[in-house]
Amino acid sequence: MNSKNKSEIKYRGKELFMINKYEVILLAAGKGERMCLPLNKIFYKDLVNGKMLIEYSIDLFLDDRRCEKIVIVYNSDDENEIKEIISKYNDSRLMLTTGGPLRQESVRNGLKMINSEYVLVHDGARCNLKKEIIDDVVNNLGLYDCCVPGVKVSDTIKKTTNNSIETLNRDVLYYVQTPQGVKTEAIMKALEEMKKTDILVTDESEALERYGKYKIKITNGRKDNIKITTQDDLKLFEYLVRWGNVQDWSIKRRASFFYWK
Ligand code: CTP
Ligand code: MG
Repeated sequence: MNSKNKSEIKYRGKELFMINKYEVILLAAGKGERMCLPLNKIFYKDLVNGKMLIEYSIDLFLDDRRCEKIVIVYNSDDENEIKEIISKYNDSRLMLTTGGPLRQESVRNGLKMINSEYVLVHDGARCNLKKEIIDDVVNNLGLYDCCVPGVKVSDTIKKTTNNSIETLNRDVLYYVQTPQGVKTEAIMKALEEMKKTDILVTDESEALERYGKYKIKITNGRKDNIKITTQDDLKLFEYLVRWGNVQDWSIKRRASFFYWK
């Protein structure tokens, strides 16, 4: 590995090919229609900390020294709210650009402001992100074109059409999340191709799967890395902010206490 942006190290016998720096596209240009609030959901202030949903991701990325830039892609209807956030943070790593009507167009707009070899694309609405997910993406990205946090499904999944129903083999199924780490050049080319051929994709990795032969890895996501889509998700997020940091050892201790009683 010869790029100065990557380093090859061994950690507990495992080889990690980590990147040293990255930039972020933070997507906030949706409308939050399914949330049915009088404002875009990413500006909703939670009931526990009184913090806007988008601020959770901004804080986490700004705390990471490897993060050199965050391009917030916003909806032009939200000009006032987003400018207020920028002036509050007053951090030169935060930049703004407007989005498009489709998520993939918002990503393309954000990419115009990216200078790094790798970019992390994150949903502003996925506000319960934890550092370990970023680390797992970043620690693997040197070896792949795209790293996608995923979680193995534990429910049985059925596929239905008008007149059939089929059970899928869940051993090979993952649901995936953001931030998705991608080689900037690869995602630019793939999204350009999607535009030319009028194909809609729901995430960055799908664009790479459809176009070209790219190496994609599913890294460790978390069940609690939820995207706030409906008001039920918001209730769950507020619960997680309040109680989500309970440590595994504490759960084990309580469980063994009940067991021995
Ligand atoms: N997003 C975006 N540009 C779009 C559409 C979505 O930047 N044209 C962003 C959203 O702001 C959100 C993320 O992509 O952070 C995931 O999208 P979603 O959960 O669908 O959010 P919204 O599109 O805002 O919600 P809805 O579909 O309910 O209107
Ligand atoms: Mg949407």
